[in-house]
Amino acid sequence: MRLLVCGGAGFIGSNFVRLRLAEHGDEIVVLDKLTYAGRRENLEGLDVRLVHAGIEDAEAVAGALKGVDAIVNFAAETHVDRSIAEPGAFVTTHAVGTWVLLEAARERAVRYVQVSTDEVYGSIEEGSFTESSPLAPSSPYSATKAGADLLVSSYFHTYGLPALICRGSNNYGPRQYPEKLIPLMVLNALHGDTLPVYGDGMQVRNWLYVEDFARAIGHVLAHGAPGEAYNVGGPDECPNIDVVRRVIELTGADESLLEYVTDRPGHDRRYSLGSEKVRALGWEARVRFADGLEQTVAWYRDNRAWWEPIRSGDYMEYYRRQYGRALG
Ligand code: NAD
Ligand code: TYD
Repeated sequence: MRLLVCGGAGFIGSNFVRLRLAEHGDEIVVLDKLTYAGRRENLEGLDVRLVHAGIEDAEAVAGALKGVDAIVNFAAETHVDRSIAEPGAFVTTHAVGTWVLLEAARERAVRYVQVSTDEVYGSIEEGSFTESSPLAPSSPYSATKAGADLLVSSYFHTYGLPALICRGSNNYGPRQYPEKLIPLMVLNALHGDTLPVYGDGMQVRNWLYVEDFARAIGHVLAHGAPGEAYNVGGPDECPNIDVVRRVIELTGADESLLEYVTDRPGHDRRYSLGSEKVRALGWEARVRFADGLEQTVAWYRDNRAWWEPIRSGDYMEYYRRQYGRALG
């Protein structure tokens, strides 16, 4: 296929691009704004054309879309804590950016997959969300992602655009920006920095290895029904504190680094997705959390050249603002 992958220089997007090139030999154009989270080095050595532009830039989008069969949109601001501190960019990218992409897709009648998140359903104490669960987002991140999902659905209902939505649970794996729980804890543990656990650490996340999510998006792209949403949940759920304790074991760090800090405002207690619908398309998660976490810690240990430039400058400044202390 000839694909336009928006946000393809980020964590999940670049893993998706890698997988598609290796397993499908697609022709790929990446359109990415290269924010702090988007990195050219994530695409190093890959046979793709990179267009450096935002999805809200209609002219750049129209140019990048020439000759393309389908759009997969990963482009987003993705960190809940940043959305609490400064929601503006979340509104622009998720609402305006998604609208611009949808207009371009409508004009050329191309298939469109919106990459979304379990967070649009809000928190669930027991059981799992299905695709018909109501959207009840809690943070500016999840609220603007939910808004984007609704806009995507409206383009199917109103204009007949062959648009689909793929909602993943918490991803982890190589090339995840270290503001997120797992890489943050791994890098802090390797450096002997404290490990900041929000609140009581008993919040539960449904962990999905990034390659499993990338493969699921491929199934939705190829076999999903237009107008439908598909949940993609990981095979295992785990409270944050257990994740952090396992990172301590895998890195050989000192347990005294663990520190309980002030909770995130509006913190969702538990996420859990039922994945029956995407399974019916032939997808199955391949990586259990215990194995994937071990592989991920090994990847960060072996790829200092990827994260050393990140763990300086802007990131240090962000960390100081967010956690009220400097990294060592
Ligand atoms: P990421 O922050 O690593 O990457 C986001 C990418 O989007 C970056 O390359 C960035 O430069 C780009 N981008 C941001 N604003 C843009 C804009 N206006 N125009 C063009 N590009 C822009 O995020 P990620 O973890 O790879 O997430 C990718 C997608 O998957 C997002 O839509 C996110 O909501 C969704 N998702 C993430 C997770 C997770 O656990 N990380 C889980 C489910 C769904
Ligand atoms: P995060 O990786 O930000 O993903 P999300 O908020 O999208 O689930 O956080 C995962 C969980 O880890 C979430 O419950 C918040 C918690 N957390 C901490 O306890 N400490 C931290 O420093 C971070 C970044 C997250």
